[in-house]
Amino acid sequence: MTRAAFSYDFPHRHLISVADLNPVDIRIIFERAAHWLAVNRTPDKSSDVLKGLTVLNLFFEASTRTQGSFEMAGKRLGADVVNFAVAHSSASKGESLSDTARTLAAMRPDIMVVRHSATGAPRFLAERTGLAVVNAGDGMHEHPTQALLDSFTLAQHWGEVGGKRILIVGDILHSRVARSNIGLLNILGAEIRLCAPPTLLPSDVDQWGCDVFHDLDDALQDCDAVMALRQQKERMSGGFVPSAREFFHLFGLTHERLEVCSPDVLVMHPGPMNRGTEIHTKLADDPEKSVILEQVESGVAVRMAVLELIGETIRRDFHSREAGQ
Ligand code: NCD
Repeated sequence: MTRAAFSYDFPHRHLISVADLNPVDIRIIFERAAHWLAVNRTPDKSSDVLKGLTVLNLFFEASTRTQGSFEMAGKRLGADVVNFAVAHSSASKGESLSDTARTLAAMRPDIMVVRHSATGAPRFLAERTGLAVVNAGDGMHEHPTQALLDSFTLAQHWGEVGGKRILIVGDILHSRVARSNIGLLNILGAEIRLCAPPTLLPSDVDQWGCDVFHDLDDALQDCDAVMALRQQKERMSGGFVPSAREFFHLFGLTHERLEVCSPDVLVMHPGPMNRGTEIHTKLADDPEKSVILEQVESGVAVRMAVLELIGETIRRDFHSREAGQ
């Protein structure tokens, strides 16, 4: 299936927040991701849809799967992918984010994939550099490709995510994964439940369009999917929760606890996972229930879809500028 099969022009140069996407954008991303998912399972993975474009991975925070999957996605689409090693960069010598970004932009990459500890850094870089920017996680704010790959994984099982009951449990307060998932699941029409101790919930959570629980056994009733989140210790300044053992006792996912869910409940985790803190190790590895590695596989396909569509926008914008429109 080629892109020519669609008559819809993806209208975005950036992916910074899920709030920028409408249901049609999401459908196109999922259709392209399904295509790349199938391609990625063949020995002929390489394509040239991004040939000539340079993708710059700019990760100011640690990452294993997100950076690796953006790199693989860009390479499989034929882009030149440059991983900018921030730890060895002038940022560690006191250069401002703006100067680092403008310096890199002068090398004329086309797409910047940015992870940063500060909320708003990707939008700031998009404005400063004029480059296409994909947000790979900004502080506690958003992680849009994670939300897309999570809903895509669920859609692969269910067809539709709308109408399903999905629980997010754990450190909601500090989680950009939770914020982006809530935004996207709301657009897709899912019923969202949140479960956490009051110290790990934001004060305005009642305005998020979710049902909030403090008791996990109540929260799990009849859920179709459950997503466990890691405690974001790097974003905590004080003692938000008791010991890991006590957290597991109150909020950890186990087979026994899941008995009140839908019989086909799917278990998710964005990674990195702390086994025995937010999820029992046997549940994490249960091939019947856990889709954690499917999420990783979907991640490459969804990021290929996003880079492909943004690449089309870049070429379209360039040609219309050239034509003086
Ligand atoms: C998440 C992140 O970095 O926000 N990980 C990821 O991208 N897969 C979640 C986390 O770090 O806990």
